[in-house]
Amino acid sequence: MSKAFYVTTPIYYVNDVPHIGHAYTTIAADAIARYRRLKGDDVFFLTGTDEHGLKIERTAEANGEKPIELADRVVKRFQNLSQVLNITNDDFIRTTEKRHERSVVEIFKRIEHAGDIYLDEYEGWYDVRNEAFITDTQYEEIMELPQEKRPLIERVKEESYFFRLSRYQDRLLEHYRKFPGFVQPGYRLNEVVRFVEGGLKDLSVSRTTFNWGIPVPGNPRHVIYVWFDALTNYITAAGFPDDPERFAGIWPADIHLVGKDILRFHAVFWPAFLMSANIPLPKTVFAHGWWTVEGEKMSKSLGNVVDPYQMADEFGADVFRYFLLREIPFGQDGDFSKNAIVSRVNGDLANGLGNLVSRTLGMLERYRGGKIPAPGPPGGSENSIHDAALSLIGQVDEAMTETAFHKALGAIWEFIALVNRYVDEEAPWTLAKEKKEERLDTVLFTISRSIGVVSILIHPFMPSSSEEIWKRLGSTEPFSSLRLPDAGDPGLIKPGQAVVKGSSLFPRYEEKTR
Ligand code: MSP
Repeated sequence: MSKAFYVTTPIYYVNDVPHIGHAYTTIAADAIARYRRLKGDDVFFLTGTDEHGLKIERTAEANGEKPIELADRVVKRFQNLSQVLNITNDDFIRTTEKRHERSVVEIFKRIEHAGDIYLDEYEGWYDVRNEAFITDTQYEEIMELPQEKRPLIERVKEESYFFRLSRYQDRLLEHYRKFPGFVQPGYRLNEVVRFVEGGLKDLSVSRTTFNWGIPVPGNPRHVIYVWFDALTNYITAAGFPDDPERFAGIWPADIHLVGKDILRFHAVFWPAFLMSANIPLPKTVFAHGWWTVEGEKMSKSLGNVVDPYQMADEFGADVFRYFLLREIPFGQDGDFSKNAIVSRVNGDLANGLGNLVSRTLGMLERYRGGKIPAPGPPGGSENSIHDAALSLIGQVDEAMTETAFHKALGAIWEFIALVNRYVDEEAPWTLAKEKKEERLDTVLFTISRSIGVVSILIHPFMPSSSEEIWKRLGSTEPFSSLRLPDAGDPGLIKPGQAVVKGSSLFPRYEEKTR
């Protein structure tokens, strides 16, 4: 079985209301998955929901329902996001599924068998929102925050199973040294290394004071710590332990995308669990930054939570996707504001790509009866446009290999600007007036072909617009059968294709609100 390209998002707390943070990771993972498919890879793309733990048990209790009833009722909020944002996940895992329970029990047993689990007592602090044990130093830092900014912290003292994380300090450090690409961007790797060098304490991996979780094998008074349970989702969905052949074909994951706040769980705890269970480690954990909203931290109490459903409704999924991936380098923090998205719509999309497509198709209708003409002999600028298109394909590939979406989009938009300048300089309207027919054919063909290249390259980011442009260019080949090298194929756009101008692809924002 050939190895699949495996990309994941975190699994989201099922009772969260989806916000820009969830949408961001999911959209980024989708761009990677689509790009890889375009390259011809066999992709497996996973997302899902994290459904166990104290917080969910308490919320359900407060609602007078069972935790599973709560989860079943609200999981759709995440599942529907895929349709609305045009996400192509191949699986959606819920940690309450039986396949997942089998997987968690199996990895727990393997770790126990390796001598890395022991029973003791945990006494310390617990952050309920983040389902995380916190150190005394972290506790002191939290207590310095103003009261309204403090997360809910509780004192815990109970019998607990521990995982011998301390045993893995050296092996983890060696792994980071040997595979510096394991944590990306590089500045995040330094943070992780510093944390591990500071010393690792054994980790509590079970709780006894609530019930909503997977029972510890052999001692059902304990439920398995929700992060141990949640992280395991990545191997469950790949077929562990039920389908070893499938698992071997999918695992290890090529990339786990996570927010920077949950990097430690993915880059320290998770690899240590896997080492102990003798399962290969994922190749990369990529941590992205956080969005603030109009300069403020996003929070329910401030009422500034960005709702992805509303964004998709107001701007369209493609515009929202484009904005998130273009606005900031993937990895860094960014600020979301309505002004910023409107300026992207009106600038890059309406004036840039939208204008190029609409004026080209308009001229083809006006001067060539709606058909792409066969080109005459190329002059200097046609050759340089062609060369720029070929080099663009390489630049996008390089950027996508680095998970640098903004660089890929930046390069595509530079090319769009180049082609828009070419149109202005060649002034096809003047060529038409002066009846320079052969030259007009060459220019119109060159622009059409350039738009063809763009339509393929934007697909990972703006899938609907990409396919729409492809269709409007009159291409008869279905988009789904295209592969990346086709973008560089001189036969990409064939003379004689019948184009359709259609309505504006990206209306200026003011026009929509009038
Ligand atoms: N259930 C855990 C993940 C388990 S994975 C084995 C969890 N869930 S979550 O619902 O809280 O999802 C959080 C994800 O959203 C994280 O990747 C986090 O970084 C991201 N974001 C939450 N708020 C965010 C912003 N304001 N900006 C960007 N991403 C942020 O954690």
